[in-house]
Amino acid sequence: MSLQNKKLLLIIGGGISAYKALDLTRLLVKNNVEVKTILTKSGKEFVTPLSIMSLSNNKVFEDIFDVNNEKEIDHISLSRWADLVLVLPTTANMMSKLNLGKAEDLATTVILASNKDVLLVPAMNVRMWLHKATQNSLKNLLDFGYKFIGPVSGEMACGEYGEGKMSSPRQIFSYLKDYFNNRDLVKKKKFSAVVTTGPTREYIDPVRYMSNESSGKQGYEIALALSKLGVKTTLVAGPTSINFSKEMNVKNITSAEEMMIVVKKLLPADVVVCAAAVADFRPKKKEKNKIKKCNEAHSLLNLEKNTDILEYIGKSNKLKPKLLVGFSAETENLIGNSIRKLNQKYCDMIIANNISKKNTGFNVDYNKVLIIEKNGKILDLPRNKKSYIAAKIAKKIIDNLLINDQNTN
Ligand SMILES: Cc1cc2nc3c(=O)[nH]c(=O)nc-3n(C[C@H](O)[C@H](O)[C@H](O)COP(=O)(O)O)c2cc1C
Repeated sequence: MSLQNKKLLLIIGGGISAYKALDLTRLLVKNNVEVKTILTKSGKEFVTPLSIMSLSNNKVFEDIFDVNNEKEIDHISLSRWADLVLVLPTTANMMSKLNLGKAEDLATTVILASNKDVLLVPAMNVRMWLHKATQNSLKNLLDFGYKFIGPVSGEMACGEYGEGKMSSPRQIFSYLKDYFNNRDLVKKKKFSAVVTTGPTREYIDPVRYMSNESSGKQGYEIALALSKLGVKTTLVAGPTSINFSKEMNVKNITSAEEMMIVVKKLLPADVVVCAAAVADFRPKKKEKNKIKKCNEAHSLLNLEKNTDILEYIGKSNKLKPKLLVGFSAETENLIGNSIRKLNQKYCDMIIANNISKKNTGFNVDYNKVLIIEKNGKILDLPRNKKSYIAAKIAKKIIDNLLINDQNTN
């Protein structure tokens, strides 16, 4: 059973739906989940520590400056102990505080210090939810990596109707079951991934090279998102200014040729994501010394083709992973050209990227892509931060890997 012996840290905020946290706690404990709770100061106005303690069979944490608490279990180890942090209800005020990165009480400090997934369950009046301030917080919180359950539409405690109503304890319970099921399954499968990113540099002489505008951010974010989902991931990166996470396994390369060699060494893998902007051509010859400014210099540049890494892997019976994901950066006929590329290179999925717009694509933090699958399914992702887009792509990859595995077993 996926929930058996899981440890959940439940943070109860100050909203009218706080009473539903009691229902959920009962349901979780009945299913052998260990629940520890933090009650915010406002949360205490709605539910009592005594009720929570009786249902969770655990002491309730409230004050960050409680000497006994800090001795027993400090503000860092509470989230280290948990498998998952759940904030229910997440009030408009809490969203705003998390957006600002506040650490002003036990709840916000634990969340900021958490190394686990944090699930937010918003509950508020429809106007509060739709307010630009809350919607701005939502955008940023998604970008920070917080996950959301709901809210849903319906009649609210205040009598108004609309979006902002909290998901029911049953819906949350079922989400948690799926969440742990998926996580356990991915862990058990021990999936591995190779992601390429960044530009390549094709040197003409010791100081001059041909390259492109790629920042490597999108590929890096995908590698990070896959790692977070439990996939053993290696990133093969061309020259970028990214400050790589220390936990990420990174192989730095310079040229397309080097990238090809390193990728081949890392295969086989369950999934390969080719997000790098690999140069199509390289100079036939790299001059040993810096080319002098002379009249003939312009005629020195003879080019030859680099191996197309994506196509090479796609066509190789030996190297082809269970799932091959390509990128297609286009300035025109985005879908048509991307589908052609998907077929030509034997990909299972292609991320189509319109690079004609200045505010998405190369060298910016935002992107707007379509995920096109071999079976013809197209998912249009609206413009968003590259980290958000990466989380969606990683989720799609995992879903496909799990379906593949089900079909082959
Ligand atoms: C009766 C009552 C009900 C409330 N219900 C909600 C609610 O459902 N959602 C919300 O965002 N705020 C609600 N508020 C406002 C919050 O309690 C307030 O913003 C509080 O500071 C939130 O605390 P927290 O950040 O610890 O969750 C309510 C206030 C009152 C007095």
